[in-house]
Amino acid sequence: MKAKNDFDKQQHTALSHDGVDEIIRPAPDKVGFEEVLEKALSRRDFFKGSALLFGSSLFFKSSIGNAESAESKAFDVFDFEPVAANVEDTVTLPQGYQWRPLVSWGQPMWSKGKTFDAEQLLTSEEQALAFGDNNDGMKHFTVQGRELLAINNEYVNFSGFFSNRKSGAPETLDDVLKTQQAVGVSIVEIQQVKNGWQIVQDSPFNRRITAHTPMEITGPARGHLLMKTPQDPQGVEALGTWANCGSGTTPWGTYLTCEENFNGYYASSDSGLEISPELQRYGLAHQGYGYDWHKVDERFDLAKGMNEPNRSGYVVEIDPSNPNSKPKKRTALGRFKHENAEMVIAESGQIVVYMGDDERGEFLYRYVSNNVFKADADIDDLMENGILYAAKFAEDGSGTWLPLTPKSTGMSLAEICIHTRQAASKVGATTMDRPEWVAVNPNKIEVYCSLTNNKIRGLKPNKGGDAQPVGGPNPRQDNKYGQVVRWTPEKGDHAANEFIWNLFVLAGNPDVHKTGLQAGSDNVDVSNMFNSPDGVHFDSQGKLWIQTDGKTTNQGDFAGMGNSQMLLANPYSGEIKRFMVAPKGAEVTGFAYSNDRKTIFVGIQHPGEWGIESTFPNGDVPRSTVIAISHKNGYQIA
Ligand code: FEO
Ligand code: CA
Ligand code: CA
Repeated sequence: MKAKNDFDKQQHTALSHDGVDEIIRPAPDKVGFEEVLEKALSRRDFFKGSALLFGSSLFFKSSIGNAESAESKAFDVFDFEPVAANVEDTVTLPQGYQWRPLVSWGQPMWSKGKTFDAEQLLTSEEQALAFGDNNDGMKHFTVQGRELLAINNEYVNFSGFFSNRKSGAPETLDDVLKTQQAVGVSIVEIQQVKNGWQIVQDSPFNRRITAHTPMEITGPARGHLLMKTPQDPQGVEALGTWANCGSGTTPWGTYLTCEENFNGYYASSDSGLEISPELQRYGLAHQGYGYDWHKVDERFDLAKGMNEPNRSGYVVEIDPSNPNSKPKKRTALGRFKHENAEMVIAESGQIVVYMGDDERGEFLYRYVSNNVFKADADIDDLMENGILYAAKFAEDGSGTWLPLTPKSTGMSLAEICIHTRQAASKVGATTMDRPEWVAVNPNKIEVYCSLTNNKIRGLKPNKGGDAQPVGGPNPRQDNKYGQVVRWTPEKGDHAANEFIWNLFVLAGNPDVHKTGLQAGSDNVDVSNMFNSPDGVHFDSQGKLWIQTDGKTTNQGDFAGMGNSQMLLANPYSGEIKRFMVAPKGAEVTGFAYSNDRKTIFVGIQHPGEWGIESTFPNGDVPRSTVIAISHKNGYQIA
């Protein structure tokens, strides 16, 4: 296969997937509701919006002298000296804490695999026996007394993965097959040894799920015309999962892996091919991210059929206790660029799943099952029969979940599950600043979602032409820093259709911008400033861990912020402290903890990306790595 051209290389060294999407499938310049946009852009409204935010309960304020403060006293882990921002090529933690790598890309999960060699790297066969690349969302499970981690392998970091290739990109057929083996999910057993934690090679629970693993298509879209392909004429079985971003768990002990930027793996061998508006809405274009899957596997060539992309973009349920189980694509939870899936049981017993669609101007969703969870519940029924909702936020701090039904959208149930973005556009949901992880507070009926950034807020509509006015939970034009929104369901019921919201934190740079919204909210100062919140995770004590995936130039608007980081927040007082700084070019993503709560597992993803040189973790080729963090005195920290 011929070497990649320079454009593809540039995509993989200098741009994130959403950056590439902006090039290959930009948002339209014009929107049908021009006047809405202009109104939102006017100075008058912008400042009115700011005053509203700072002067009202829409904005976070510290709570004082109430029971909540007493509760916050239990958070001893807050007693650490915050870490200063830096641009080092290592992990920096507060004094008293230590870290060790647990597992890195390419590490063999079975003894018949090959020991990673930084110069030779791996063949596709060797990669099939090894931990995947770009670890992202993860969850901890206990099965038969053993501790397991299910870990997403979101995509492939070309800087390390193809460091053995001159072009820095796939050059051979085996290179392409290797990328298909490096994505998906890795399930590994872990155990504590003298010096910390390690993966258990050859554990009967170890499993790799890749771009080839057969999956059952379940729910309303199963068997629909739009799901049928030459390879699967019934539309009931898809092969593989990729772009696995965030994750979730269920009360019945399964893992949820969420397909996010699935579009960039498809491309067209016919440059004149007309791509439907339905596919364009999801970013499908003639050119992908440069993986070349379409050259070796017809499923990924749009010119050979345009239904295959309808079979990605879902939440996939996996049973980690049974390595032979067939993963299930849960189409009832909708198709979009899924970040994570945060499941909670409502007071009624119905299951509720909160989900973000991480793209500029896309929506925040909720799924509510029709039936209730109980001991003998039919799990397939709970995951297949329910209603999807999209969130609408009002300026006054109230909000509504809008049901996506045949009645409200004019679409069939299957169409709603396949073209979910279009369904949400039809009901007029609020376009958001890239909804990333959602987390439910374990101590309170309250939900948090990070809105990472949005450079076209107030400037352009989303890919479907929906306006992106400045206001509500998205208060800044060209949002560089991001924010975390939180809401409380009406009457403390996650299944209720009304909620009230405010912003927990508006990230900003108070050193560069002394006043105004770019300075961030009151709980941001020069000691804890950050940009692009992404992972939000509650631990067993109800502390909120915030992870970033941001601009790490440390210059201009981002001066003094350093590398990506992980912060610890007190949801009651609003206090935020920087706990960790990541190595160069990496984002921090994925959070889990051991049964004894003395070790937290955190993902360092794509060190050395964006063309930034990194040799993390071993001083040679940069490798995404899950690290284990503990306190030197063995305290419980999660
Ligand atoms: Fe894979 Fe939205 O992060
Ligand atoms: Ca993310
Ligand atoms: Ca992100």
